[in-house]
Amino acid sequence: MQINRLSDALGAEITGIDVGALDDQKFATIHAAFLEHQVLVFRDQSLAPDAQVAFSERFGPIETRPNRPYILPDVPEITVLSNRRADGDPVGVINAGDFWHTDLSFAEIPSRATFLYALEVAEEGGDTEWSNMYLAYETLPEDTKRRIEGLRGVHVFDRRKNPRTRVDAQYAANPDAVYGLPIPDATHPMVRTHAQTGRKSLFVSPRFVVGIDGMDDALAQPLLDELFDHQTRPEFRYRHTWRKGDLLMWDNSCLIHIGRGNIKPPGIRHMHRTMVLGDRPR
Ligand code: OGA
Ligand code: MN
Repeated sequence: MQINRLSDALGAEITGIDVGALDDQKFATIHAAFLEHQVLVFRDQSLAPDAQVAFSERFGPIETRPNRPYILPDVPEITVLSNRRADGDPVGVINAGDFWHTDLSFAEIPSRATFLYALEVAEEGGDTEWSNMYLAYETLPEDTKRRIEGLRGVHVFDRRKNPRTRVDAQYAANPDAVYGLPIPDATHPMVRTHAQTGRKSLFVSPRFVVGIDGMDDALAQPLLDELFDHQTRPEFRYRHTWRKGDLLMWDNSCLIHIGRGNIKPPGIRHMHRTMVLGDRPR
């Protein structure tokens, strides 16, 4: 097994390993690399749905929120991301994650890690980009660190309640089917301490955070704009161009990410996604 850094900000590529056949010692190496690099890229995987679920489960309980669109028939742990259509209808989520976000932060218990496996990639487009929220927190001006200490962000699933986002064309005809689900808002600390590493990170994102708990919008919105601007500085980021057979996993407690989309026709990008739950942010 070989581990190579992918950028100054975050990420490592792991070659010479089959994640479908791991002993405990290899798993321990991967787990340590995950905490160190936040994004792991496993090249050249050949991974059946059940094997992806089994690997994911080693990191925590799989999320199986009801009414998730585009679950894989027979394997409800997996969500399909795809721009393919069958008889005119999409077979997967077309534009997953098109605003900077961290997965499931609208939930009381957000995602610890997401696993995304590329079965097909397009010749052009479909990159994914991450930004390192440890670095974002550490480089905040001291007075900003003091201003946000102890504050809680309000995380909202319904895009119609967030002027910084919009409902994707895929759901425009019936947004209620996706965004009308009874999902309560969540509040989480804006500065989060990682459950395994103990490091502090900035835990906000423009996709999900619409306000600050108990703070007037006249004060909260400019502060959020400042943080959203800061958290995507180029030096915090790594952008991945996918190869077929890539399995990526990323740490949602200390990163934000965005799907860059713009797949050039007739390219097809087809992925299987799993997520595992983590700790209550604190
Ligand atoms: C996701 C996501 C980005 C991408 O599935 O949660 O953000 O590039 N995907 O597919
Ligand atoms: Mn995402």
